[in-house]
Formats: sequence, C-alpha cells, structure tokens
Amino acid sequence: MAADPEIRLPPLRGAVIGLGMMGRHHARLLQTSPRTTFVGAVDPTGDRHGAVADPALVFATVDALLDRPVDERPQIAIVAVPTEEHVAAVAALAAAGVSVLVEKPVAETPERARELIAHVREAGVHGAVGHVERCNPALLELRRRALEGQLGRIFHIRTERHGPFPARIRDVGVVKDLATHDLDLVGWLGDGAVRTLAAQTQHRMGRPHEDLVNVVGRLDGGATFTVAVDWLSPTKVRRTTVLGERGMLVADTLTADLTFHANGEVASEWDATRTLRGVSEGDVTRYALARREPLLVELEGLCDLVQGRPDPAVVTLEEGLAAVELADAVLRSAASGDAVTITPSGEGATA
Ligand SMILES: NC(=O)c1ccc[n+]([C@@H]2O[C@H](COP(=O)([O-])OP(=O)(O)OC[C@H]3O[C@@H](n4cnc5c(N)ncnc54)[C@H](O)[C@@H]3O)[C@@H](O)[C@H]2O)c1
Repeated sequence: MAADPEIRLPPLRGAVIGLGMMGRHHARLLQTSPRTTFVGAVDPTGDRHGAVADPALVFATVDALLDRPVDERPQIAIVAVPTEEHVAAVAALAAAGVSVLVEKPVAETPERARELIAHVREAGVHGAVGHVERCNPALLELRRRALEGQLGRIFHIRTERHGPFPARIRDVGVVKDLATHDLDLVGWLGDGAVRTLAAQTQHRMGRPHEDLVNVVGRLDGGATFTVAVDWLSPTKVRRTTVLGERGMLVADTLTADLTFHANGEVASEWDATRTLRGVSEGDVTRYALARREPLLVELEGLCDLVQGRPDPAVVTLEEGLAAVELADAVLRSAASGDAVTITPSGEGATA
C-alpha cells in the first residue's frame, strides 16, 4: 500500500551497509527521503562512489556504526553487501534491534537464507528482501490490472531479461544474479506458487557459472510460465508479458511502459471459422503511469512495515527464501535434465 501523505510519521533513523553499486543508491534515498534520517553507512573500503554527504557518517564496520549513542543508532538498515556477507551483517544488526531490508537474493543458498531468517525472528525485528522489480511502476500496474480481471483467466507469464555481461564480474551465474528476480515475479504476478519447473542453461563465456538460462514451469492454479535470462545478448531487454483469455499486458521495465493488447472483437460472418475460437488482433493501449523510483517505493514499504502501517508493500523474508529455493531447483534441473516438482515447506518452497 502506498504511504498516505496525509499521515505524517516521524522519520526513521536509517543506515546502509555496503556502499557499492546498489548501496550508493540506497544511501542517496536514505539521505533525501522525508521518511528517514540518515545516520550512517558502513563499508570497509570507504565511500568510493561519493554517496554520503557527511564523511563522518561513513564507518568501517557494523560494530562501529552500532557503537554510538542510542539516538544516533539506526532503527532500519539496508544490507547491500555481497550476497555471501548478508547473514553476518543481518545477524549483527538484528541482535542490536535494527530492522533490515536485505538486497536480493536474500542469501546464497536456501540453508543460509533460513539461517538469516532465524536471526531476524529470534531478535524480534522486522525483515524484508529487496526484490525491487516488484516496485517497478509498470509491473505494479500490470499486476493490479491482471488481479482485477482485465485479462480474464491468466494462461501464461513470460519474462525476458537479456543483455551483455555487466562490468561488475561476480562469482555467480545468471540464475542467482538475475533469474531470482523472475522466479519471484512469476508467482507474484500469477498469484500462485511455482509448482513445477524444468530448465536448460548455457556456459559460453568460459566462467564456471551459467550465462544463459531458459526455464519453463507451471504455477498453482494452472498458469504456465517461461523465464529467459542471459548475459550473451548484445542489447538489453527487460520485458514481462502476462497472457490471458482477453488479451495480453506487456511491461517494459527499462522504460516503465505498460501496454495492453486486447483480443479482437470483430465478429466473423463466416460460420465455419467461428467454431475455431482463435484470437485476433484488437486495440492496443499504452497507459500513462506515474513513474516513481522503484528503490524509493521499496524504502517506503520498509518504513511502513516498521511503523505498523497496514499491508506494507514489502517482499517477506520467506518469499526471498522461496526465490532462492527456486533458483536452486533451476540449477538442479539444468544439471540433471529432469523436471523438478516444488512442494511447499511452510517457509519458502522445497524442491
Ligand atoms: N536489486 C537489484 O536489482 C540488485 C542489483 C545488483 C545487486 N544486487 C544485490 O546487492 C548486493 C550488493 O551488490 P552490488 O552490486 O552493490 O555489489 P558491490 O560489490 O558493488 O558492492 C558491495 C559493497 O559492499 C562492501 N562490503 C563488503 N563486505 C562488507 C561488509 N562486511 N560490511 C560492509 N560493507 C561491505 C564492498 O566493499 C562493496 O563496496 C548483492 O546482494 C547483490 O546481489 C541487487
């Protein structure tokens, strides 16, 4: 739920852990949002991107950030350190009573994600995961329209995430780095958990990890999905399509455009063709959307969660765990060549 501007809550003291590619953007928003007062950033390598206005607020360790007078300690922190460092950072913050938003993927394996969740639950603080695509204005509007029934029954969800290999070389493949976005999105958009999937990967760049993945699967409720992701394409594509009985909604998350392709409603005068019940091209509508920065919407969701507003728009830690479990299932399916059935584990999902 978007924050109601009429109700002003006191700003929360916020910090960011990790000032790299993602952390610098979180630092900018924590310093400028009226919902937060910036109390510090942690990075052992300092503020290489010049993201923090006051250098006195850059600390080398989480302990140094927390070792300050109570009213200068963070109430919320965004964890934007490399994924393998998430658990340690969250453990220290949660033990100090700090609520956390952890960048996606929530952890490197399902086991580590469960460990992270245990730290948060034992400390009794709030936790959420930064699956920021869910805050993209085109996807928010697509989901609202699909759930309202604009498409009728949903048949299929298709996500496409292609582009060149990014400069920030990392020791993971496309499945954990990028497809976790899509594996989270398909269930959120289709309003049902992933029940079965099969995957194929390619290793073409000489790295130990895959650089292309194609996943096909089915959700609870019967909708099918495909997820296609790679680092081998010479142009960047970020497209999500939901196809239903009345037409198709297409979101371009690079431009935050949403387009509706309606099925044609021109009646056939030829009796024989009426029985084929095929689809024809109808009207095409591109919606005018209010485009708010997804990371800011994500931050406001965290503030809503911590300040007890109803229905905060956050991705739960359990949903983050489910995405990591699905990524694991994708890699196992690609390795074995077999389809994988996902059974609900009560926390996330277990393959
Ligand atoms: N939501 C998204 O779309 C998205 C996009 C990119 C990355 N990410 C995620 O964000 C996280 C960070 O990725 P990135 O691309 O910003 O990485 P990065 O390497 O650019 O930045 C990580 C920063 O953390 C610092 N760091 C390392 N250990 C630390 C510690 N113990 N305490 C404090 N700082 C520490 C490093 O010095 C570095 O500056 C990862 O989990 C990644 O998967 C999410």
